[in-house]
Amino acid sequence: MEKLAAILLIAGLGCFAFAGLLTGYLPVSHLSKIEVKTLDEIAPEPSIDFIDLSERYPEQFAKYYGEPTKEAFHKALRLGRDTYIAEACWHCHSQFIRPVSNEDIRFGKVSWADEYRNEMFLPHLFGTRRVGPDLIRESGRRGNDWHAAHFFDPQLVAPLSIMPRYTWFFDGEEPNDKGIAMIAYMQWLGSWTTPQMMAYQARKEGAKGEEASE
Ligand code: HEC
Repeated sequence: MEKLAAILLIAGLGCFAFAGLLTGYLPVSHLSKIEVKTLDEIAPEPSIDFIDLSERYPEQFAKYYGEPTKEAFHKALRLGRDTYIAEACWHCHSQFIRPVSNEDIRFGKVSWADEYRNEMFLPHLFGTRRVGPDLIRESGRRGNDWHAAHFFDPQLVAPLSIMPRYTWFFDGEEPNDKGIAMIAYMQWLGSWTTPQMMAYQARKEGAKGEEASE
């Protein structure tokens, strides 16, 4: 009887160790080797929307970001992402379009793995609930002024909205560092799928291919 118990104990511990190896160690050792792109690679220039913010709110922009440079743009994107996490926007919004239920008709191009392989999606923000719409194709859907009004009080532009007001993204009525960051971040989400960006990427890939073949 004791022998059987000992065998079961050893078998149990063995299974436990095997499961740890299979579901813990192996995925981590494999995934940690995947190269993650930096903002320098995926957002080499400040976006048109970011420059527009610097012209629309010149004093607030200069106060928090100075000039609309690449560095300022990256600072805003990172703060936007961090604020999105801190304010738990992901409780109500997803950032992932699935190839089912005609989601592409409602939101836009179905998501693909590579678009998440960069520092802006660590941790990933797929989300699990859609109290509000998916946001991964938000870029260009609205203007900067629409976003400003919407964060100040969603019901100003969407009368039946249950999204909360984010008045602390503003100093008075003008967006502050968080407000500017959040608008820049919204306008960035999915900007790489616009026809202009796709063509730009294709040209860059083509140039790389030519270099390699020389
Ligand atoms: C309680 C749930 C809830 C929370 C929390 C929430 N939202 Fe929303 N959001 C909604 C709903 C519902 C809508 C649709 C109605 C509307 O446009 O306001 C919406 C709409 C939006 C839209 C407009 C999308 C479009 O183009 O129609 C944006 C952008 C947005 N939310 C961003 C955010 C951000 C950023 C945060 C966090 C700072 C946030 N939301 C927090 C529920 C929420």
